Amino acid sequence: MMTRNFYRMPTFVIPALAALLAAGSAHAAVDWASVPGKDVALFYPGQSSYEWALTAGDMSGATAFRTEGKDCAACHIGEEKDMGEHTVVNKARTFKTGEKPSIEPTPIAGKPGSIPATVKFANDGTNLMVHIDFKEGTQPDAKQDPAFATKVTVMFSASKVPQFNRMGCWSACHDDAASMASAAGAARTKYLPNTHAKLSRQGGGDALKPAAELAAMKADGYFLEYWQARVNPGAPAQAAAGTVFDKRTETKPSPVTAEATFANGTWSVTLTRKLAGGADAISFAPGGKYQVGIAIHAGHTAQRFHYVSFERSLVLDSGAADFVAVKK
Ligand code: HEC
Repeated sequence: MMTRNFYRMPTFVIPALAALLAAGSAHAAVDWASVPGKDVALFYPGQSSYEWALTAGDMSGATAFRTEGKDCAACHIGEEKDMGEHTVVNKARTFKTGEKPSIEPTPIAGKPGSIPATVKFANDGTNLMVHIDFKEGTQPDAKQDPAFATKVTVMFSASKVPQFNRMGCWSACHDDAASMASAAGAARTKYLPNTHAKLSRQGGGDALKPAAELAAMKADGYFLEYWQARVNPGAPAQAAAGTVFDKRTETKPSPVTAEATFANGTWSVTLTRKLAGGADAISFAPGGKYQVGIAIHAGHTAQRFHYVSFERSLVLDSGAADFVAVKK
């Protein structure tokens, strides 16, 4: 089932989503204490890009990923804390099998390697809500984003991005994106692999597939959506949302709302959006299967200096997935 060259995975043809108009979300408060949560360890990934993770010389699980259908989560869930500790410093990483070079050339002194989070999803028949409790620990001020201490982001796909299904956020994180190893000073944002004409170990550069091909891909649901809460202790949260396709594009005004509280070292963040999506947004419905990835920027960081999760699945109401957005 794996193509020989995963860098150029084929696009799958999927019926277009119904284009529904998104509106602002007025919703009743959910009693989150009554919703079951799951622990998700978010870890610091350094410069581990899509291309890095798919290269056996860089990440030894690459061959099993490409040829045996082993997804990232299958090997790595449970190891995130150690992975983060390895990665957050500019030191060689030591394994039973030997040493691997650092993947963090510009470490932030004193930064924790991981953040433990508890994640809950719910829906009220009109809105989808995600609630994340986490302790970010003592975070040095990286001064990369002076406006916000912390940003909490959830990425979604309607299972229509084959790379995201198997590798979550790494599908969008390329070696030539801003602050990554092959960026050479470029300001490239996240992008999905199939949108680019050619991918090499250094990423996809700036050459895209023909416009007609891109339009068909997008209409087929080959894009990611992100919801973000931008927070400072003691201030109301600000919400942002957007898509990742050939680049990251913010959707304005934000169809997502955000609420956040900070007490005793714990952030509690809730993001809410209508189940119905717009032209460039996912429509969530019972019976559908979705994929999610979570990221937290803590300590005034930006770009890649965040904590990330491996890929998880999501269904609404009931069913088999990592997360069930329970009906409230
Ligand atoms: C078959 C198991 C396996 C799979 C599948 C796998 N990995 Fe790995 N990964 C490893 C091993 C083993 C290491 C330890 C370093 C090495 O040997 O390269 C590692 C190291 C890493 C590291 C560095 C962490 C550290 O502790 O230094 C990252 C980041 C990583 N993998 C990400 C991924 C991503 C992303 C995917 C999916 C595209 C993935 N891995 C799939 C086995 C796997």
